[in-house]
Amino acid sequence: MHESIFPKPSPRGRPSAGSSSTSTRTQPAAGGGIIGEPGPESDFAALFAFVADPLILVGQFGLVEDANPAAFDRLPDLAIGLPLPVEKTHRERMSRYLSLCSRTENPIPGAVFVRAGAESSCRHPCRGARIVLRAYGDEPLVLLHLTPTNLEGRLHLLTERLNDVRRVMQERKRREIEMQALLTERSRLLVHLEEDAQARQRAEAERDAVLSRLYRAGQDERRRLARDLHDHAGQQLVTLTFGLRKIASRLSCPTAIHEVEQLLRHTQDIGQSLRRVTLELRPAALDEFGFVTALRSLVDEWSRVTEIVTEFQIVGEEVDFPLETAITLYRLAQEALTNVAKHAGPGVCVSVVLRFSALQVTLTIDDNGSGFAADEAIATSLVSQGKLGLLGMRERMALVDGTLNIESAPGRGTSIVARAYRSVEESGHA
Ligand SMILES: Nc1ncnc2c1ncn2[C@@H]1O[C@H](COP(=O)(O)OP(=O)(O)O)[C@@H](O)[C@H]1O
Ligand SMILES: [Mg+2]
Repeated sequence: MHESIFPKPSPRGRPSAGSSSTSTRTQPAAGGGIIGEPGPESDFAALFAFVADPLILVGQFGLVEDANPAAFDRLPDLAIGLPLPVEKTHRERMSRYLSLCSRTENPIPGAVFVRAGAESSCRHPCRGARIVLRAYGDEPLVLLHLTPTNLEGRLHLLTERLNDVRRVMQERKRREIEMQALLTERSRLLVHLEEDAQARQRAEAERDAVLSRLYRAGQDERRRLARDLHDHAGQQLVTLTFGLRKIASRLSCPTAIHEVEQLLRHTQDIGQSLRRVTLELRPAALDEFGFVTALRSLVDEWSRVTEIVTEFQIVGEEVDFPLETAITLYRLAQEALTNVAKHAGPGVCVSVVLRFSALQVTLTIDDNGSGFAADEAIATSLVSQGKLGLLGMRERMALVDGTLNIESAPGRGTSIVARAYRSVEESGHA
């Protein structure tokens, strides 16, 4: 193995002292290698030693003739007198490269692949050219100049990054275009959806309108029938009953009294049939919503239409009671409120209170309007005047075993209190 003729590199990079030399090169002067001698070789040696980039001299058989400290630094396996520490799979290519370089003085770009660990290799870019140095004999050598890898590596990395970025940007652009297309499609679908929803809403609204027209028509018809029965047939029956009773009280002949009483029973039968029919025509709201809600909406609607200030109150816990009682109380409320609107005068206020107690349900309708003389005598004279609303209320309440209390005096307002039992058993008439 050769000793380098150049200044000693760092001990790490140097091989141990070699054995015999096979080179034909001229031995340098003792003491300082060729540096000591002036001339081109010594200039070259100085350059060789102090140049920052790794420089390697390779002989004609591919053995390392010499290397500068930077080369030993860069390639720790480098040793003078041995082949370049090239990675196995690159050896053939390396020797082709060296023979190419040995034929020209113009540096040829290449790379040295050195072993790095058990499996991998490390690439060192280089330039190689033929050089003849007297100090090494007349044989041409190849000077390998390892170019700084850092810069190139970084450049390479940078280029790759740049390419990555470009790829990412392209991908992003592509996604953006796709996204834009999807968004356009979405807005198109949304418009469709919106149109569909509007069409459906229109159809539903039309259907609702038709249904509610039908419902209202049905309700109006029922109301008309019930009113006709109540106002005409019912009131005429009441008149008839009162007339017959009056006649019976004046008769003395038992046969005549008996006949009149039979007529009275017939009249009562007709009255019962009439009530059954009126029951059939009971307010639909009662079936649909129950008594309390139906009554509340009756009061609200009445107040809204008449613009009379009305307070509605429920006292006690709501409990079930017979349907017939509910219908009677509902009709009573209708009649009482109609009377307020008809007779109580302007600026009147109304209070409706529904009270549930252990045994009874009580409906009170008070107003602070004009009032009237409400004694029995007057009540009787009402019949002759064909005013049957208050009497009808009383009769209806009696039919469900309830009571009606009417308190009124001119200028003192009117109070109507209807009381009914919660169940037939409790009324004592089971
Ligand atoms: N809330 C009321 N305020 C003032 N007067 C009333 C009230 N309710 C009834 N009246 C009087 O009692 C009379 C009898 O009422 P009603 O029997 O319902 O007959 P109608 O309402 O057909 O007149 C009414 O004509 C009216 O003079
Ligand atoms: Mg009336």
